[in-house]
Amino acid sequence: MITIGNIQLPGFPLLLAPMEDVSDPPFRAVCKENGADLMYTEFISSEGLIRDAIKSRKKLDIFDYEKPVGIQIFGGDEDSLAMAAKIVDVTNPDLLDINFGCPVKKVACKGAGAGVLKDIDLMVRLTDAVVRSTSLPVTVKTRLGWDENTKNIEEVAERLQDVGIKALAIHGRTRSQMYKGEADWSLIAKVKNNPRINIPIFGNGDIDSPQKTLEYKNRYGVDGIMIGRAAIGYPWIFREIQHYLKTGDLLPAPTVEERIAVSKNHLRKSVEWKGAVVGINEMRRHYSNYLKGLPGIKEFRNRLVVLKELEEVEAVLDEVQQYYQGFEIDRSPIVLENYHEHCAI
Ligand SMILES: Cc1cc2nc3c(=O)[nH]c(=O)nc-3n(C[C@H](O)[C@H](O)[C@H](O)COP(=O)(O)O)c2cc1C
Repeated sequence: MITIGNIQLPGFPLLLAPMEDVSDPPFRAVCKENGADLMYTEFISSEGLIRDAIKSRKKLDIFDYEKPVGIQIFGGDEDSLAMAAKIVDVTNPDLLDINFGCPVKKVACKGAGAGVLKDIDLMVRLTDAVVRSTSLPVTVKTRLGWDENTKNIEEVAERLQDVGIKALAIHGRTRSQMYKGEADWSLIAKVKNNPRINIPIFGNGDIDSPQKTLEYKNRYGVDGIMIGRAAIGYPWIFREIQHYLKTGDLLPAPTVEERIAVSKNHLRKSVEWKGAVVGINEMRRHYSNYLKGLPGIKEFRNRLVVLKELEEVEAVLDEVQQYYQGFEIDRSPIVLENYHEHCAI
C-alpha cells in the first residue's frame, strides 16, 4: 500500500500523467475504467484561477467516479499560487499537485514554469507557500533539472520533502532535453534510494508496455509509475500493465467491441462535459488511435470526422463494430510522439 497524505493507493500504483488538452474529464473517465489508480487534471494557471478565467475554472471540474484525483496548478508567484491553492481547496480534490518548470512561452513569459527549475530556492518558497495555504496533500511533478549541468533533482527532492510535500513524480529528462533521447531513470532511482527520502517517488518517462513497466519497476525500485503519451488513444495500457504485474501474462489486444465501447463512452462524456459542438469536434482526433489496426478503417474515420450530430457519429461507430465483428487486432507497439509544443514537464 502506498500512501500520499491520507490517500491510500495499491502497492504499485499506475498514475495517469497530467496532460494539457488531453487529461480532461472524458479522457480521465476512460482511463479510470481501464485501471488508472490516480489521475491528475491538466495543468491550471494560478493567475487564471485568481482572475476567474472561465477556461481555468472549467479545468477544476472533477467527478466522484474518478477519485482519487489531483488538481495540478502552476505559477511563479508565491501569493498567486497560495491564493490558487485556496480556490482548489474548495473543489475538494484528493490532492493538489504543483507543476514546476513548464517551458512553453505562454507560461515561461509570465515568470512561471521554466525559470523555477533553475532556482531551487524559489521552487522551495513556492512549494512552502502552497503547503501552508491548503489542508490537501501537496505533491510535485518535475524533471531531473534544467539541463545536463544542473540535474539537481536529489537536492530538490530533499528540500521539497522538508517543506511538506507528500509525493514526488519525476520525468527522467531535463528541461532542455524536451522529449529528445530516452528518459534516464537512474537519477530517479537515486532519489528513491536516498535514505533521507520517505515520501513516494513516482517515475515517469517513456513507459509504453507492460514488459517495460515490470523491467523499470524492478530495476529502479520506484513506488509507482506515471504514464502520459502511451495512454493517449490507448487507455487499455493501464489494465494491460495491472494484469501483467499480477499474473505475468499479456492480455490480448482490445477487441473491436471494446474499442467501439470506449470510443462511444469517451464521445458521450465529451458531449456531456463540453457540449455537443465542441465535444464532437474534439473527439475527432481520437478515432484513429482507438481504431488503429483495422484494415480500411480510414474510410470510416473520414466519415466520423465530418459528422456533426451525436446520433450520426454513434451510428457510424455501430457500423464499424458490425463491419469488423470478430476481427482480431494485434497490439501494435505504441509510438510515443514528440509533443514539443506542449508543456514538457
Ligand atoms: C500533450 C501533452 C501535454 C502535457 N501537459 C502537461 C501538463 O499539463 N502538466 C504536466 O505536468 N506535464 C504535462 N505533460 C508532460 C507529461 O505529464 C509527461 O511528463 C511526459 O509526457 C512524459 O511521460 P510519457 O513519456 O509517459 O508521455 C504533457 C505531455 C504531453 C504529451
